[in-house]
Amino acid sequence: MGWKMNLRGTVLTSYVVILFCLKGAAASNRNIHGVLGGSAFLDIANLKEQQQILKWLLGKTLIARMKMSDSKPTYSLPCMCELYPNGTLRLDNLTQKQDGQYTVEMHDSEGNVLTEDINLHILENISQPRIKWTCSTKTVTCEVKRQKKPTFQLSQNTEGGKMKEPKFVNDTWTAEWRVKNISGKFKCIVSEEVLKRTTEQQVNCSGLDMFLILTIAGGAIVFVIFVAVLIYCIRKKRSQRRQARGRNFSFCYLVTVSLSTN
Ligand SMILES: *[C@@H]1O[C@H](CO)[C@@H](O)[C@H](O)[C@H]1NC(C)=O
Ligand SMILES: *[C@@H]1O[C@H](CO)[C@@H](O)[C@H](O)[C@H]1NC(C)=O
Ligand SMILES: *[C@@H]1O[C@H](CO)[C@@H](O)[C@H](O)[C@H]1NC(C)=O
Ligand SMILES: *[C@@H]1O[C@H](CO)[C@@H](O)[C@H](O)[C@H]1NC(C)=O
Ligand SMILES: *[C@@H]1O[C@H](CO)[C@@H](O)[C@H](O)[C@H]1NC(C)=O
Repeated sequence: MGWKMNLRGTVLTSYVVILFCLKGAAASNRNIHGVLGGSAFLDIANLKEQQQILKWLLGKTLIARMKMSDSKPTYSLPCMCELYPNGTLRLDNLTQKQDGQYTVEMHDSEGNVLTEDINLHILENISQPRIKWTCSTKTVTCEVKRQKKPTFQLSQNTEGGKMKEPKFVNDTWTAEWRVKNISGKFKCIVSEEVLKRTTEQQVNCSGLDMFLILTIAGGAIVFVIFVAVLIYCIRKKRSQRRQARGRNFSFCYLVTVSLSTN
């Protein structure tokens, strides 16, 4: 009876230990993102006081090591990086080669080693989006400098239109939308995974309305002139009837005829 209980207890304890270990390993595995040509900071989540030596590795390759007592790092390869006294590794001028799993080993004086893993995922940068528009065709375009096609999204305070398939010309991706209302505030969002750039642009296409106003005003002025000429001619005709026939008659007759046919 007592022996059975003991066995059960041992089995249970092993289960708990295994579960705990799995959980601990998963928690130390972090994902961070960097931008090509940019920098990344690899922080240690849990640095204990008693650690004596730190080692940063990419895969199995040692990058840098440091004795905590003197905070003087040594780099195993000429690396575009810096190891800070607090154990953070800063990587600069990121290239695709630096994409991968980083491990920091923390050795204490008793020979115990703690490790943490960080996955660094490097993305191509997205330039600040540029919004352009054409009033007459009611089209809005959004462009970014980039090799890989990103995701485009246009939002408007009114209604966003349908997007044409983005085009790649001159190292630039351009998306185009035909919108219902070309006047308003447009927001272009360009993204890939965690990387996201946004540009807002106020568009005013009141130029078209101005053109309409000028056309109507111009038409009104022409109309007033015609009416004035008409009145002048009628008066002239009357006075000509009273007097003998004048030379201007045929001209006024022509103007009145052309007006009436209009
Ligand atoms: C990435 O693009 C942004 C503009 O969207 C720019 O401010 C930043 O400096 C760029 N970063 C790199 C590393 O080129
Ligand atoms: C360590 O120091 C660097 C540089 O001072 C800083 O940028 C970084 O955030 C620090 N990391 C931690 C985990 O405090
Ligand atoms: C690394 O980046 C800096 C600026 O961010 C630049 O001045 C330097 O030339 C770059 N080095 C290399 C080798 O690309
Ligand atoms: C591409 O860029 C070049 C130089 O910057 C320019 O002359 C050319 O017009 C551009 N082509 C297009 C289709 O925009
Ligand atoms: C277009 O949107 C602007 C700004 O929201 C609004 O003032 C205008 O009345 C809209 N025009 C049409 C034709 O819906």
